[in-house]
Amino acid sequence: MWGGRFAAGPGALMQAINVSIGFDRRLAAQDIAGSKAHSDMLAAQGIISAEDRDAIHTGLEEIKAEIENGTFPWSEELEDIHLNIEARLKDKIGEAGGRLHTGRSRNDQVATDFRLWVRDHVELFQNLLTVLIAALVDQADANADMIMPGFTHLQSAQPVTFGHHMLAYAEMFARDRSRFEDCQRRLNESPLGAAALAGTPYPIDRDMTAKALGFDRPMANSLDAVSARDFALEALSAATICATHLSRLSEEIVIWTSAQFRFISLTDAFTTGSSIMPQKRNPDAAELVRAKVGRIMGALTTLTIVMKGLPLAYSKDMQEDKEPVFDAFDALELGLAAMAGMVADMTPNKDILAEAAGAAFSTATDLADWLVMNLNMPFRNAHHVTGTIVAMAEKQGVTLDALALKDMQTVEPRITKEIFNVLTPLASASSRTSYGGTAPSEVRKQVARWKSNLARS
Ligand code: ARG
Repeated sequence: MWGGRFAAGPGALMQAINVSIGFDRRLAAQDIAGSKAHSDMLAAQGIISAEDRDAIHTGLEEIKAEIENGTFPWSEELEDIHLNIEARLKDKIGEAGGRLHTGRSRNDQVATDFRLWVRDHVELFQNLLTVLIAALVDQADANADMIMPGFTHLQSAQPVTFGHHMLAYAEMFARDRSRFEDCQRRLNESPLGAAALAGTPYPIDRDMTAKALGFDRPMANSLDAVSARDFALEALSAATICATHLSRLSEEIVIWTSAQFRFISLTDAFTTGSSIMPQKRNPDAAELVRAKVGRIMGALTTLTIVMKGLPLAYSKDMQEDKEPVFDAFDALELGLAAMAGMVADMTPNKDILAEAAGAAFSTATDLADWLVMNLNMPFRNAHHVTGTIVAMAEKQGVTLDALALKDMQTVEPRITKEIFNVLTPLASASSRTSYGGTAPSEVRKQVARWKSNLARS
């Protein structure tokens, strides 16, 4: 492509370090779309003829088909996706193919292709997140009043509802979705027409190519257009946060499916057996989703360091932007899909959850609150009285609601039998009707809100 200036070809090591066709062929569809938009614009502006444009389009269509059916002759000598496609176009249509690159450089070309690719994925993630949220909302709907232990420090704290727990994740994943939405808005500007770095003397129409490629507008500074990669960094940041959330839910699935917890069961669809221990059912999918954050955050770190300290405008360092993003986004795509599948697949074990919810004196706070509300006791005193009663229950080896009233009255004589109305886990959870609280009535309201949101998205 630059044979005019160079007498010899590149050395073997030069080629080895320079070549990117092994991975950037994933940008083929975007590259062809960009070239079509560019050649349309060149013809509309009278820079190339309509015949040349038509020949370019026909050639590009054939190339697209070759790539799709696996007959495209990929060449490492031709370095990257842009040169592979351009050379093939010249083979097919001759001189007209040589006119496609007028008023354009690989620098704005790759920036455009990569933005389009990232945009597709950022959009895909929003859709996958919607599917995942819908699965969580369905679980919440079906189990709005199923009692389970709520934890702090992974110690039983207060009874909550399974539905409430599911909706906590729906909230997290909705914020992830809105991060991708924001990111999409910022990235949706076209670098095409910035050329190598300074713009071009041809009378190009950047608004036209921007519009054709679904961008909101052309980028306003050509140096920025060819050298910005913060769109990818931002998408990777959003991906990292999302993967972190996926890892938290995965961790709960791993814990909950263990023999010690048995809070939920997964079917064969999302578990594997052991080659040696016949009784095993391992939550491998959850474990793998939990691990994906490693490579996703690794990609964010990689690209941040590649970009750090790069002077304007394009530098070849930026070719190192693609592999980490491809890998991270493949991982997130799979992780989101697997998680949506697991959420839909899981069955909460009602009896085990109920029993666990009542263990560990989980309604002690309810007892203290009852003393405050009915005896006008200062909360600190109520805390102390409750602590004494808990110690008594512990000594007798019973749950709080199984203690005898007269035993409680030895600690605080004003306690009445009404106390038993708040000591069961269901009563405890049902009383938490504050906005955003765990009461089944609140969970149902939130489910209804989610359902109408989902119907709109
Ligand atoms: N393969 C290159 C990349 O991914 C394309 C841009 C090359 N530009 C250049 N001036 N050598 O960044």
